[in-house]
Amino acid sequence: MVKADASKLDWNNLGFEYMDLPYRFLATWKDGKWSEGELTEDNTLHISEASTILHYGQGAFEGLKAYRTPDDKLQLFRPDQNAKRFHNSCERLLMPAFPEDKFVEAVKKVVKANADFVPPYGTGGTLYIRPLMIGVGDQIGVSPAPEYLFTVFAQPVGAYFKGGMTPMNFTTSQYDRAAHKGTGEAKVGGNYAASLLPHQNASANGFADCVYLDPVEHKKIEEAGAANFFGITKDDVFVTPKSPSILPSVTKYSLLWLAEHRLGLGTEQGDVYIDQLDRFKEAGACGTAAVIAPIGGIEHEGNLHVFYSETEVGPVTQKLYDELTGIQFGTVEAPENWVQQVD
Ligand SMILES: Cc1ncc(COP(=O)(O)O)c(C=O)c1O
Repeated sequence: MVKADASKLDWNNLGFEYMDLPYRFLATWKDGKWSEGELTEDNTLHISEASTILHYGQGAFEGLKAYRTPDDKLQLFRPDQNAKRFHNSCERLLMPAFPEDKFVEAVKKVVKANADFVPPYGTGGTLYIRPLMIGVGDQIGVSPAPEYLFTVFAQPVGAYFKGGMTPMNFTTSQYDRAAHKGTGEAKVGGNYAASLLPHQNASANGFADCVYLDPVEHKKIEEAGAANFFGITKDDVFVTPKSPSILPSVTKYSLLWLAEHRLGLGTEQGDVYIDQLDRFKEAGACGTAAVIAPIGGIEHEGNLHVFYSETEVGPVTQKLYDELTGIQFGTVEAPENWVQQVD
């Protein structure tokens, strides 16, 4: 693959595509310890055919972004939260912890080394960063791998919505992405492999993605595609589901805080029954990639329930979006420790 060239990129029209940037970080775990790790130019990994990642899915990953501010500084949004979640995901799959401070350091090194690829302020683009750990080495039995790789790569991505947020419709799925006490709380590959078919079915039926219901009874909303769900009740409470099979979204916890402390809304984490959507005047899907995708409506058992509108974004959702993206791009004051400079 040809190395990406920052001078040839059309910053206003970036998608979400892989690009081979100049540098990535790579560390290895062998004989019970991590190597120092270093930046490398090679975008390929050479691993044993018996690696546990290939057979048993022993691997975890993260997704976060670097932002360019109006005064041309580079900053990260709550990377410590990704480090913590990564730690939990690795623990769930019996992989060795990568120290959380070293995780953030590695992310910063990759951003700095590829600084030319952080899109200019004003384009809405960001540098998407993908840390991951995989089990490798010569071992065919179903048990933890003898060796591990930790790598962090990055690529510039465009604004999810170009020219304003547009609501999307979702449909409920008959499939589950994770079991009740399975790996839903961890950011591990198997959950995403399980989501490919339901996503394809939803999109073939004209929906942006599917809403997953609780894997026990299929009565409560869990996630909206690869994003967390939230709703704003008619009396201004920000409500988001709570369950052991939901991925704890950094964006969702940030919105919960902003809803309470900056917008003066009530907040609630609890059950969101699919047959009680009338409580909500607005709804959205939130995550690093989309930030907030307003949900126009949710189809369930043949009926489409529309929240605010199928074409317009609701005012509370818009305010949450403006507050969050303002903090991320450095134009709105951040709560303590939410942004970290890369210098
Ligand atoms: C299944 C799933 N839910 C929710 C999220 C949103 O999490 P975050 O806000 O940390 O990006 C993601 C993306 O990471 C995801 O893959």
